[in-house]
Amino acid sequence: MLTQRSLRTLWPIVCALLALTVALAQPLLAEDAFSPGAVWLDSQGVAINAHGAGFLYHEGKYYWYGEFKTTGRGGNVANVGFSCYSSRDLYHWKNEGIALRVSDDPSSDIVKGSVLERPKVLYNSRTRQYVMWFHLELKGQGYRAARVGVAVSRRPTGPFLYLRSFRPDGEMSHDMTLFEDENGKAYLLTASEENQTMHLSELSDDYLSTSGHWKRIFIGEALEAPSILRFEGKYYFVGSHCTGWAPNPASAAVADSIWGPWKPLGNPSVGPNADRTFLAQGTYLLPVHGQPGAFIFAADRWNPENPIDGRYVWLPVEFTPDGLVIRWRDRWQLRDFASLQNSASQTVWPATK
Ligand code: DGJ
Repeated sequence: MLTQRSLRTLWPIVCALLALTVALAQPLLAEDAFSPGAVWLDSQGVAINAHGAGFLYHEGKYYWYGEFKTTGRGGNVANVGFSCYSSRDLYHWKNEGIALRVSDDPSSDIVKGSVLERPKVLYNSRTRQYVMWFHLELKGQGYRAARVGVAVSRRPTGPFLYLRSFRPDGEMSHDMTLFEDENGKAYLLTASEENQTMHLSELSDDYLSTSGHWKRIFIGEALEAPSILRFEGKYYFVGSHCTGWAPNPASAAVADSIWGPWKPLGNPSVGPNADRTFLAQGTYLLPVHGQPGAFIFAADRWNPENPIDGRYVWLPVEFTPDGLVIRWRDRWQLRDFASLQNSASQTVWPATK
């Protein structure tokens, strides 16, 4: 039996054990900060598995869609499908499960073992459907099929129903993104022509196909990993060069119209490993809801030997008079945008001659 005396003796030990348990549990709890390149745990303490990500903000929540990778060299093909996570604050993410699952049917385009990459989701207010586009390579054909896949859902978290795959406007399509403009028009931007030239295609009103209106841009520049944002009437592009899973310098451009002409801005990265985009490759330019001018450059630090251990590099976008800068930070918070925006809006631009 525990006497009052033995309780008094044990109490400091119990307190010390409790403190130790809390300290050990700390790394499992996501904090209100971004640590680019570090393991990022979801709300259950499991590493987030959503690579080549696309994001959607809808009715107060962010949704993060990405490639669910598995361990070992075979983990880059689609063994599971696309995962979905949700968050209200961009720091803490809840695993919502598999949004689009691979098929067991060998005749399906999305059979287990095919290549499914870079999912991007838009909400179509006309049809009230969530529409997912992604890069699809047929099983066993390397990167020769060069198609997009399209899937739909009535809920942002899925499950998404796979509809079909095709070459948009009859042209090859590898790395891709979707961009929805302020007027509701949406676009596919994709690496085409054996990755030598990007194609910009307008989507149909239901977002399920392309409208037939398309244009070649960044002709012969050999870019991939495209992403687009719009800020103060200008369109900004960030992509990468083509070196497989190995990092290379990012490449940015700015335009007054999404159709161009696009003015090259070079590599916007600043800081350690800027010449290789902080050892990462972009996947999305994520607008922060309720903070005009706040955008996050979301990138992947790939790990082709063990894809499940690929990391995420998120950094704030800084606008400059001439373009944009993506600066390395070991750790940062959304409130850091205030000082970036302040410095941008308080800058007195030199008078034009
Ligand atoms: C780089 C692309 O950006 C990735 O999505 C993936 O397709 C790899 N190349 C494959 O090597």
